[in-house]
Amino acid sequence: MHDRVSSGEESIFSQNSRDSTDEAQGINENQTYIDGKTKRIENGSSNLEVECNETKPAMRRGYYGVSESQRRPTGNKRGLSALLEDAYRFSAHEDFSLPAGFLRTRRRGQEVFTSDHADEDKLAPVENKRAKAAETNVKANDNIEASNSVKKTAVKTTGRNPSAGHNKIQELAPRRRSQRNSTSQNLTNVKLAKTSHKKAKASTSESNTIQDSFIPDLTKVKDISHELFDLEGLENEETFTENPVPSTALSKHFDSRCMQVGLKSILFSNYEEKYVINFSADSAKYNPMAEIGRLIEYTIAIYFPRSYLDEAKKTVILPLNKSFDRGDAEEYLKAVNAYNELINRIPRQNVLNRLRHLNGVPVTFLHELLHIAYVRSIHPKANSLKQYQAFSNYVYGELLPPFLSKAFAQCHLKGGDIFVDLGSGVGNCVLQASLECGCALSFGCEIMPNASELTEIQNEEMQRRCKLFGLKVNPIEFSLRKSFVGNTRVDDILTKCDVLLINNFIFDSAMNTKIEKLIQNLKVGCKIISLKNLRGFGYSIDFNDVDNILNRLKVERFELSEGSVSWTHRGGEYFISTVLNDIDESIFTTYSKGRVRRSAKPLKYTR
Ligand SMILES: C[S@@+](CC[C@H](N)C(=O)[O-])C[C@H]1O[C@@H](n2cnc3c(N)ncnc32)[C@H](O)[C@@H]1O
Repeated sequence: MHDRVSSGEESIFSQNSRDSTDEAQGINENQTYIDGKTKRIENGSSNLEVECNETKPAMRRGYYGVSESQRRPTGNKRGLSALLEDAYRFSAHEDFSLPAGFLRTRRRGQEVFTSDHADEDKLAPVENKRAKAAETNVKANDNIEASNSVKKTAVKTTGRNPSAGHNKIQELAPRRRSQRNSTSQNLTNVKLAKTSHKKAKASTSESNTIQDSFIPDLTKVKDISHELFDLEGLENEETFTENPVPSTALSKHFDSRCMQVGLKSILFSNYEEKYVINFSADSAKYNPMAEIGRLIEYTIAIYFPRSYLDEAKKTVILPLNKSFDRGDAEEYLKAVNAYNELINRIPRQNVLNRLRHLNGVPVTFLHELLHIAYVRSIHPKANSLKQYQAFSNYVYGELLPPFLSKAFAQCHLKGGDIFVDLGSGVGNCVLQASLECGCALSFGCEIMPNASELTEIQNEEMQRRCKLFGLKVNPIEFSLRKSFVGNTRVDDILTKCDVLLINNFIFDSAMNTKIEKLIQNLKVGCKIISLKNLRGFGYSIDFNDVDNILNRLKVERFELSEGSVSWTHRGGEYFISTVLNDIDESIFTTYSKGRVRRSAKPLKYTR
């Protein structure tokens, strides 16, 4: 997938340039921000409760048969494990140690959903069936021709061994080229395949002249199928009255004599977005030409009535890809204008009919829209996010869209659900949950004033972008410049929450204790996505506090795949905990291993 920050660049959130400003240093979770200034809230209760906990003796004997001498006050155990947890947070030997830049450059490369998730028939049922038939007929020829073509290009472009294959080509391709969402197949290869053997063969050699596409192979991308489009709104309103941040605002460093082009909207004929076209400018952070390419290909795949596909492929997609690869600005401009001209000829009603019968859109298209809003609202003010206290709870880091899509699916987050992000940063996860899952409410709470301001900017930009693409805007709410501790709105929403996200990767043990208290009233069935196990290191059941929700969590551990989080390219782990009705019996085995004597009989415990 595209990068919000391009590879090879120091991240816009580099840890190296972090400031320990007064503002950042003064924050604690018992504070509320009003207009960027801090106001202390009296809240001594949490400290008091911690102390109470610490003096409780652990009464395990009846259950584990632990001798009196083995009994330890829970508080001491907790104290030790808390110390260890905090020590591990920054251990240089741990996989999770903070790298030089906590927020490092995001990695290039698309995490494409596997064919398990793919449903080719969703997007274009007729074409796909035809494509499959055609593919079968010409499979052998295709393979030979395609591989020859790729190999030829490899030799031509890189001068290396042709057997290096397609991935190699992408690695060695010119920079601007690799900034696309590149995959080995163009969507048009499948979607537009011809019915007959002869036709298919002809189309194959033509398709092979496109070595790349701006977007992934949509047949391998998961479709999102909740009610996405605001068809009623689109029927009633043909004019776009919003003012999204134009691409040109991000290309100010480009030479003013550069060519500009307007990219027309498929849904609102009165609106076009201006872009600067300059293939020789440094586009490592933001590449307007690649964004145009992706938007055009997604629009054709999703919004175009099927009868216009062939023409779109010949007059727009092919020339767009060719001119991009050659870095030919004039030809690129012509291709964009050909697209604009084609859009003008498509009756709006035909587009709305297409949307009415659409079964879903690729999740990567939604990621693209999130990305567009993100670069326009966060990039220009990204430096402000570096103003946090080093190694504090306020260190800023992000979960990336492909990871969130996966985690949302694992939690079965769906329309009608309530999603909550505690420590929502600039609002990315809240916006994605709303757009991708159609939540009844997507809620975020953020304490940092700068991140809060960016949340507001990004939320507004996202809403404008949704309207531009005819997408429904689902309820979103933020509690900004406020802590989630001692926040009555948070307390209230948590009791109804279906999926709770806590990016607690960098939270210290004191904060984790506060979160433990906060989540006590989560409902049964609620899923919690966290980067650290909520049942921390050395957790053991306290039989004076058996009702503690931590005892009722079924915790599942998963591997983070590459490109899941902004602060490391390496993998790692994350946890999904489900609130159970009753105690999670694995506590007695997993957590007690090696520390208690096992009884011969299996343990039975009922609340
Ligand atoms: C690592 S960022 C996570 C951002 C976002 N949830 C994500 O995962 O992409 C953690 C955020 O939690 C915020 N935070 C820390 N303590 C908080 C508190 N007590 N109340 C509200 N937000 C808090 C920090 O300011 C920071 O923006």
